Order: sequence, then C-alpha cells, then structure tokens
Amino acid sequence: MSLDSFQRYPLLFGPSPIHPLERLSEHLGGARIWAKREDCNSGLAFGGNKTRKLEYLVHDALSKGADTLVSIGGVQSNHTRQVAAAAARTGLKAVLVQESWVDWPDPVNDKVGNILLSRIMGADVRLVEAGFGIGFKDSWYQALDDVKNSGGTPYPIPAGASDHPLGGLGFANWAYEVQRQERELGVFFDTIIVAAGTGSTQAGMIAGFADQDRPRRVLGIDITATLAETRAQVEKIARSTAELIGVRRDLRDDEITVLDGWAGDLYGIPVDSTVDAIRLSGSLEGMILDPVYEGKSMAGLIDLIRNGLIPTDATVLYAHLGGQPALNAYSGIF
Ligand SMILES: Cc1ncc(COP(=O)(O)O)c(C=O)c1O
Repeated sequence: MSLDSFQRYPLLFGPSPIHPLERLSEHLGGARIWAKREDCNSGLAFGGNKTRKLEYLVHDALSKGADTLVSIGGVQSNHTRQVAAAAARTGLKAVLVQESWVDWPDPVNDKVGNILLSRIMGADVRLVEAGFGIGFKDSWYQALDDVKNSGGTPYPIPAGASDHPLGGLGFANWAYEVQRQERELGVFFDTIIVAAGTGSTQAGMIAGFADQDRPRRVLGIDITATLAETRAQVEKIARSTAELIGVRRDLRDDEITVLDGWAGDLYGIPVDSTVDAIRLSGSLEGMILDPVYEGKSMAGLIDLIRNGLIPTDATVLYAHLGGQPALNAYSGIF
C-alpha cells in the first residue's frame, strides 16, 4: 500500500500556503523561519489541521454508509468545530461531546469561539463535566449508543481524529505536499516545528517524511503538559502510519522527538511565554496564534532559536495548525 491508495473527500482549497516570516526571523536574529498555514487551508469554518485529517475519515464514513459523525473534545475544541463543518459540507449529522477539560474562568467560554461555530453549523453539541484526557470516554460511548438507538449509523472519530487507523494520513500527505512546494520555492526545510496534542499531526509528518531522501528534524512541542503520554501516542501513530503507507524501514527512536518546557502546568492554560509568543507573532507578522496550541509551539520555536538548539544556518518551517477561534474565550488575557 502507498499513501496514494487511500481516497479522500476533498475539503481543502489545495496545498496550504507557505510564506517566509521575515520580521520574526530578523527579530530573533537566527534561523530563517517560514510558516505553512493550515489556518488558511480551507473555506470550512476557518479550517485547521483536523480538516486535513478529516478528508480521509469523511471518505471512509461515507463509503461505510454512516449518517452521523460522532466526536469528542474540550468545550473550545478546534477539532469538534472542524467535524461539525465537515459534516455540514457533506450532508452528514454531527454529535459532539464537549468536555470541561479546561478550568478557565472566562464567563463566555462555553458560548463563543469554536462552540458557537459548531452550534451555527447545526451540530448536536453536548456539554459534559469531565477532566482532560484523550482516551475513549463513557460520554462518547453514550453518544454512539444514542445515535444507534434513534436509528442512525454513527461514525466514531476519536479526540483530534488521532487514535484512528487513518488518523495519520492527513499529515503524511502534508509531508509530500511540503516536498513539492520546496521544489517550487527552491528551498529546503531542515527543521519542522509542530504542536503535539493528540499526536497524529506530528506522527503523520514523521511517517510521510520517513520515505524521503533528505533527512530533516520534526520537532514536536508538547502542549498537553503530559510529555510521556504525548510521546507514546506520537510514536504509536507514527509507526502504524508508516506501515500503512508502505515505508520500507522501521522508524528510528531519534525520529520521534517531542519536547517539553512550553505547556505550562496544564493543557489549555496559557503561561507567560505563550502570551509573549502570541503578541510577538501578532505584532511582527500579523499572524494570529491561539493560547492553547500555537502560542505554545511558537514559544518553543522562539526559545530553541534563542538558545541555539536550532542553529543560525537552519531553515525552519513552522506548522501553523489553526485554532484562532478559541481566542474569543480567552479575551481576558489581553
Ligand atoms: C490549533 C491546533 N494545533 C495543534 C493541535 C495538535 O494536533 P494533534 O492533536 O494532532 O497533536 C490541535 C489539536 O489538538 C489544534 O487544534
């Protein structure tokens, strides 16, 4: 099997844009930094990394005759918002279990941003009291049963569309897309920076790059504050995706790098470095980042350049994975 043998339902505009971050690069005085923009990858409800993964899962759901996408995330989940959009676009229903993963005091937390968009798109949004965890939850099984009991055919999509046999394909495909764009741009990205949460974004990239000739570093920045779990999840999905797309060698341990130091103490709670990174990329580049994911991965990139772990002659691709709608639930910070 190769990646091309998996069909997808088109949800993206095409390849997502890549552009240089000149003022940020100048400011940090080190490596040249570029961004690849999953936040602009689609016309579906502000896009994001899940839209890319969902191209494969939605095709699978339709081919299996499902009529309802069932998924789970936090109250301000970007993932469930993209599931709602993919369902709307393809004429499916969506049931979304939204758990209270983040104890954040903003009074409109469960009313604005992602959850507002999901409601507008007609999803059945269910608020559930439960702590952070990306595993399989009772509330999720309940939602699947409810769809079946009312005569529907559910298609289960786990948190972040990650722990699913096809979950790594979207970003394996991204890795080949990067290779084609590099040829057009005449540039080679030796270092990739990516936020790691439920893991299949980084895992897919690792699997997709593994079959390419020139080695590069794919540095995951943990945003969950549970590094060991995140790394285990990235490793598991990277290995299964590599096998699925026919990579003809085993992945080495040193290809699976997830770094900690920028998540703070808890998932979903920004720390000073997160807010500084959001202000810096906003004020230098007009590039907007969110406080849960991209603000933390950008904080990692900034420090890795400043402390020389990313050398001055490196060419870095920052994977901007979307997530800005959540900013509305964090207005108090600014
Ligand atoms: C904006 C954003 N960035 C990064 C991530 C992390 O991606 P993954 O869960 O595939 O590790 C997510 C989702 O969890 C996200 O919504």
